[in-house]
Amino acid sequence: MAITNEPLRTVEWNGKKVPVYPMQTFDFSKLLSHEPDELERLVRCCQDEGYFYIDLKGIDGRRFLDDQQETLKLMHRFFESPLEAKNQYGLVAPHLGYEPIGSRTGVLANTKDGYEMIKVSRDEIQKDSPHIPDVIKNSPDMKVLENAIAGSNIVTKAILSALSTGCGLTGASRFENTHRNERPSTSTLAMMHYIPSDPRTDTNIGHQKHTDISSLTLLFSEEWGMQIRPPGAREFGFVEPRPGTAVVNVGDSLRFASGHTMQSCIHRVVPYDYSQHRYSIAYFLRAENDVMFTDSEGRNITAGQWHDEKFFAFTSPPELQALAPPSMILGGMVEEDEPAVPAPVAEKAAAVEAY
Ligand SMILES: [Fe+2]
Repeated sequence: MAITNEPLRTVEWNGKKVPVYPMQTFDFSKLLSHEPDELERLVRCCQDEGYFYIDLKGIDGRRFLDDQQETLKLMHRFFESPLEAKNQYGLVAPHLGYEPIGSRTGVLANTKDGYEMIKVSRDEIQKDSPHIPDVIKNSPDMKVLENAIAGSNIVTKAILSALSTGCGLTGASRFENTHRNERPSTSTLAMMHYIPSDPRTDTNIGHQKHTDISSLTLLFSEEWGMQIRPPGAREFGFVEPRPGTAVVNVGDSLRFASGHTMQSCIHRVVPYDYSQHRYSIAYFLRAENDVMFTDSEGRNITAGQWHDEKFFAFTSPPELQALAPPSMILGGMVEEDEPAVPAPVAEKAAAVEAY
């Protein structure tokens, strides 16, 4: 966790005090300049924590915040459309297409997930006839999607490059060399809508704990709900949404590529305010499909195979997930003993206690 002298903030959620974990912040402009002190701090952050804020308020980053707002408008229109329109192509591939609510496991025992999602991959949007539902396929919408994908690719590639330099990697050993833009990958933009849900009565709740398949994930959300479990922490705590920033987390692929020295961020999504709709935009920067990794079981595996196996685990019921290699859902990250997810109390939704 970030070193701070401030007392750990908490919020009240489900009748108990839950941490709001401190996170380091990196300025996008400084990373672009490869300022040595910042690169050293960035590498250490990825090795010790595996998550951080990227501040995009400066002149170099503002355009990506504009992309976020345009994407949110498109998402509202898309998710308010009839199910047949949203599901025009269904799930074309694990990284492309529409997933209705309840496609995956939820955050509480015996629940399914509480979100719907449309994914548009970087490779697909460059095709002549991409599989994108007609309701968001007019030319202004395509421009919004293109900007969001290209912009997110630029931000995550800049971070990847900064990490290579910070790790002292040169030539073909740099991380970018396994993330070349012209090579096939499952890199994708995922747009998610979490429906209001009440853990006391509903059976579609949040998003189960996991680490990401990706190398780096760039996440925009204005609403509370994301929780992380820092390395060594005994409990999940909230990530505070901060205007002008995105959350970046390290995923399994970069953990593997770094020789398992970087931390893959354990996270989940819970209904913070039971009555709230939550929208999040995640860009998953992933390695080229045929890049080889050594996973946490010691298997040599391609990035594409890791993606497909982990996707299958995500969409399987808990009894099938239990048959997957033990490192699959959490990318080999080890958890301390964890208190059970508290049973929701009857009278209230969560409220912010301390600022
Ligand atoms: Fe995730």
